[in-house]
Amino acid sequence: MGSLPLALLMLAAVVIAPLAHGAGDPEAGKAQAVPCGACHGQDGASPIDPTYPVLAGQVEGYLFRQLEMIQSGERNIPLMAGQLNGKSEQDLMDLAAYYASLPDKVAQTDADDETISLAQGIYRGGILHKGVAACTSCHAPSGDGNGPAGFPDIGGQPVAYTVAQLKAYREGDRATDETYGGMMRGVASRLTDTEIEALAAYLRGLH
Ligand code: HEC
Ligand code: HEC
Repeated sequence: MGSLPLALLMLAAVVIAPLAHGAGDPEAGKAQAVPCGACHGQDGASPIDPTYPVLAGQVEGYLFRQLEMIQSGERNIPLMAGQLNGKSEQDLMDLAAYYASLPDKVAQTDADDETISLAQGIYRGGILHKGVAACTSCHAPSGDGNGPAGFPDIGGQPVAYTVAQLKAYREGDRATDETYGGMMRGVASRLTDTEIEALAAYLRGLH
């Protein structure tokens, strides 16, 4: 992989930096978040379906970018159609600040030891012969992501949500990483179903 990931990291930090400083007001976001709770849970950490994400404690700059892309349709989420209609950029920043400020809940994985060791190996060391970069270099050893760079927290998500996202990146159905030079599509394109399922089960309990 040489120095490419580092170059991308630096590029990403430059692009995302203005959003990472917390221009949002959590209190104003809270007032808008009531309808969101119907699916994501009123605490932002208890989604009503395992294919829906936890938002509590997510990286603010990441949340803001996803909200912009969900609003514009660049990230197509039929279930969220209409939810962000008429919201200003400031409204989206406020929602992002609110969810980022909520405490994450600690979840547990029910994966067996073999699955955990497969996933942990990939998470910490990548897959050398396939050129898969170690997840930890961007998402941190704890899975908490990288706030200044806008890289998401991927620990504690429902397993089905993570599986769906990794497959969507792999198939190119999710292309929200364009700003980052397609780095997640690059990673996921080299993962098998078995590896994706193991990673998702491992990430569920990572914190
Ligand atoms: C009817 C259910 C529903 C409602 C209401 C809803 N969402 Fe969602 N949301 C979803 C689903 C489903 C996804 C994930 C879809 C996918 O990509 O697989 C999602 C994804 C997201 C994501 C992306 C998270 C990530 O980790 O990438 C954000 C941010 C988000 N929702 C914020 C909101 C906000 C803010 C509101 C209220 C204004 C809201 N949602 C209302 C169902 C809902
Ligand atoms: C070079 C940096 C980098 C590496 C390495 C990397 N990621 Fe990511 N990852 C990102 C970025 C940036 C995003 C957000 C992209 C976007 O906006 O769609 C992301 C998004 C994700 C998401 C979606 C989060 C959500 O809430 O929807 C998952 C899941 C994920 N990564 C898992 C992994 C796993 C598993 C690995 C290792 C096999 C990995 N990533 C390696 C940078 C990286």
